[in-house]
Amino acid sequence: MSERARIIDELLRNDIVVESEAVEIIMERGGLNYIPELVKKFGKCCVIRVEDLVHSKEKSPHDISENKKSSEKSEREKSGIKAVMNVKAEKSLYDIPVTSGTSRRKERDEYDWDFKVLLNAEISEPASGGVDDFVAYFNDRYRRLARIIRNRIEIRNEVSIANLISATNEVSIIGIVSDVRVSKRGTLLFTLEDPTGSVNCIYPQGDFLINDEVVGVIGRYSEERNVFYVKEIVRGGFSHKKSPPLAEHPVSAVIISDIHIGSKMFLKNRWEKFLQWLKKGDDGASTVKYLLVGGDLVDGIGIYPNQEEELEIDDIYAQYESLATYFEDIPDSIKIIVIPGNHDMVRNTEPQPPLPSEIRKMFNGYVEFLSNPSVFLIHGYKFLMYHGASLNDLVEIIPQMNYQRIDDLMKFMLETRHLVPLYGGKVPIAPLPRDYLAIDIVPDVFITGHVHAYSYANYHGVHLINASTWQAQTKYQKMMNFNPDPCKVAVLDFHKNAIRKLQF
Ligand SMILES: [Fe+2]
Repeated sequence: MSERARIIDELLRNDIVVESEAVEIIMERGGLNYIPELVKKFGKCCVIRVEDLVHSKEKSPHDISENKKSSEKSEREKSGIKAVMNVKAEKSLYDIPVTSGTSRRKERDEYDWDFKVLLNAEISEPASGGVDDFVAYFNDRYRRLARIIRNRIEIRNEVSIANLISATNEVSIIGIVSDVRVSKRGTLLFTLEDPTGSVNCIYPQGDFLINDEVVGVIGRYSEERNVFYVKEIVRGGFSHKKSPPLAEHPVSAVIISDIHIGSKMFLKNRWEKFLQWLKKGDDGASTVKYLLVGGDLVDGIGIYPNQEEELEIDDIYAQYESLATYFEDIPDSIKIIVIPGNHDMVRNTEPQPPLPSEIRKMFNGYVEFLSNPSVFLIHGYKFLMYHGASLNDLVEIIPQMNYQRIDDLMKFMLETRHLVPLYGGKVPIAPLPRDYLAIDIVPDVFITGHVHAYSYANYHGVHLINASTWQAQTKYQKMMNFNPDPCKVAVLDFHKNAIRKLQF
């Protein structure tokens, strides 16, 4: 790993996002040895720009956990500054905007939104999508997750697979899982591969593993049988998250998903009821300053069999125009943040880029369009918003799972530190050199949608919200025996760090 890569890795370990050019300055000032000084000066969980380093005596850092005012934000917007959250060489693929976003309103500052984008996958798929692209993708997946697993206290005496022959004691290895199978006696058999080689593993205790997930295993290698006997499996996981500081004043975010405008099953009357609640400002609605939408904004065209029979609007552009009209009714004081889902007009492979400019134009720039997944900050809370297509795969491959246990599926994603741990399932993955689906930084709020049901859980301090839908059951869902649970809304109160569920 290059010096530059190690520096960015170490900064990420401290939840610090750094502007690409700032890395050069850090290298000049001592590289890794300079980082403790940076942490001391700027604290953890912040964005560091060139000007912070050049003028650090005069200026304060961009502390993510504190409310920053619009003067900083507008400066950043003007300069188009980029940050980098990765370690590979192809800079253009790794630059991640940390702008405060766009706004239609000249008077936006009066709303005092505290919003920053941390991760937005605004990049194209590689033209070829060939073997080399997939090798690069899996190398990055391995590297990111191995870094996380390596920090687990259980991982001791780590060796590479190529060096197992010389290991006589208990050791740890970290690799990508493949060829998982269970013997008649219930023993788990699988292959583990790292950049130096692969080894067959035997885990008598059973448990379950998913092909393509990255894990650490602890055990002993038998040279005679060329097998690694596993005593323990270690996933990335995370330790309990401390809540961000409470907001000084009552302020909240509403979390919804899967609106499906254009469908005959769009529950217009109940949406109007929700809108009236937002407009009237009663029952806590006056504190709402953000509306987050987790994808499937419209119903799209040709997404499921015989969909055309259930379309109220059979032109996808007209569907977005209708959505724009609905959004116009939302009070100006509420910032809207959206990501696409599998019904939206972007590529189906993940990460999905933000909706294209031809669609954005309909909204006059007042909505924040981000990728699926994306990471952003609101009042110091880190949000990870992912539409959730992989939930369909996970519910099938994890033992004893069902759609009533969505929060358990979300917990599994956090434990594996990956949104789509299985490759080759229902979710196509774009073989980009950076794995945007890895959960590098554990969020305070993890949002999914897609399965048209509401669920909430708090897992080690992380709010897990699967947002509901605004679409009634379709014929296809009926055929699949799937019952949606529509028109439920999660309200996150930043003043109390509490979640409230509302039904419309
Ligand atoms: Fe949906």
